[in-house]
Amino acid sequence: MSDCDLGLDRSALCRCPDVSRTTAQTPLPRIGATHYSGGMRAITISSPGDPEVLQVTDEPTPDIAADEVLVRVHAAGVNRADLLQRRGFYDPPPGATTIPGLEISGTIVSLGADVTGWSVGDRVAALLSGGGYAEFVPVPAGQLLPVPDGFDLTEAAALPEVLSTVWSNIVGRGHVEAGEWLLVHGGGSGIGTAAIQIANHLGVKIVVTVGSERKAEFCRNLGADAVINYRDEDFVERVREICIHEDGTTGADVILDIIGAKYLERNIKALNTDGRLVIIGMQGGTKTEINLGWLMQPRKSVSATTLRARPKEQKIAIVAEVADRLWPGVINGDIRPIIHETVPLSEAARAHQMLEDGANIGKVLLIVDEEGDKG
Ligand SMILES: NC(=O)c1ccc[n+]([C@@H]2O[C@H](COP(=O)([O-])OP(=O)(O)OC[C@H]3O[C@@H](n4cnc5c(N)ncnc54)[C@H](OP(=O)(O)O)[C@@H]3O)[C@@H](O)[C@H]2O)c1
Repeated sequence: MSDCDLGLDRSALCRCPDVSRTTAQTPLPRIGATHYSGGMRAITISSPGDPEVLQVTDEPTPDIAADEVLVRVHAAGVNRADLLQRRGFYDPPPGATTIPGLEISGTIVSLGADVTGWSVGDRVAALLSGGGYAEFVPVPAGQLLPVPDGFDLTEAAALPEVLSTVWSNIVGRGHVEAGEWLLVHGGGSGIGTAAIQIANHLGVKIVVTVGSERKAEFCRNLGADAVINYRDEDFVERVREICIHEDGTTGADVILDIIGAKYLERNIKALNTDGRLVIIGMQGGTKTEINLGWLMQPRKSVSATTLRARPKEQKIAIVAEVADRLWPGVINGDIRPIIHETVPLSEAARAHQMLEDGANIGKVLLIVDEEGDKG
């Protein structure tokens, strides 16, 4: 069957040579029995649909630009955004590969001409705009985080996307401060489990919502100050009981929301005066109506953003802040990668199904380099 029969746009999948990109400058290792420096295994999406549309294909090994490094991928994080992309609801930003995968860990195998401060052989984690479900991925050097000796290279793949997302939204947009109350929906998610630890690290008080006692217990043990089961309790009422301020006011100072339209009115009601609602997911729909009066008098604000669509310069700035403010907490064990399960790259469909089913607590990782960490 040809690529055309599959409805696959090969021109979009391949990183065709262009003047700004150079071929990898260090000879690439031979990968397994059938893969050579000219090609790599990757997961591609045959057509929008269920997890089964994820297939292992041979793709050209990507070239790198002068400000990029080529990373041999060890493990890749699976994010809910990948599920949306697979279904055809979340296109990669312009210029990004259609291979899914927003974060990886691995080893640098080649450096672009302008890259300084990194060496071939360095163990790294990286935030991507795509391309992580593959044996090799080009990464702007500013989107790399160093993985020190002794830190598990597999686990490092669980961190770049969640740390960057939580940091840039609760601090960058929500301006949360030590001593304030943060409400995070989906406490058992990859995002939620990171947010609990980041809040503790920053001295922020955190309440999370979950849909099961299994996830509630996990979040309590991880360090959530309070947990609300949204299936049994009214989260607005509970937040107003839990988040009590010295001046007698009640409500969350910042909310990190992944539900969108379905929760908008209730989120606004759960905010304290001067509260900030930051929406990063739309699992509960995109359209609803609000009364602007709910925001005006109590000076509440609502914003929404997605990390993947941000320009490279913003991603680099966010990763620099994560390296400065959160990475020391990762190294000293304050902020741990929470891994639900690791799955071979060839079983990417099964990994997606776990997130579809809501079975995971924390992250599901794809093991790309099944021969292990050779860093
Ligand atoms: N905008 C951005 O830049 C950005 C970046 C990363 C992630 N995100 C978004 O963040 C969310 C989490 O991502 P992830 O990769 O960590 O996904 P994930 O691990 O699959 O988690 C999804 C979570 O949604 C929770 N959930 C479902 N319905 C809920 C409800 N009514 N109330 C509260 N929680 C509910 C589930 O918890 P229960 O099983 O307990 O119901 C589950 O833990 C996704 O919506 C994703 O799109 C956005």
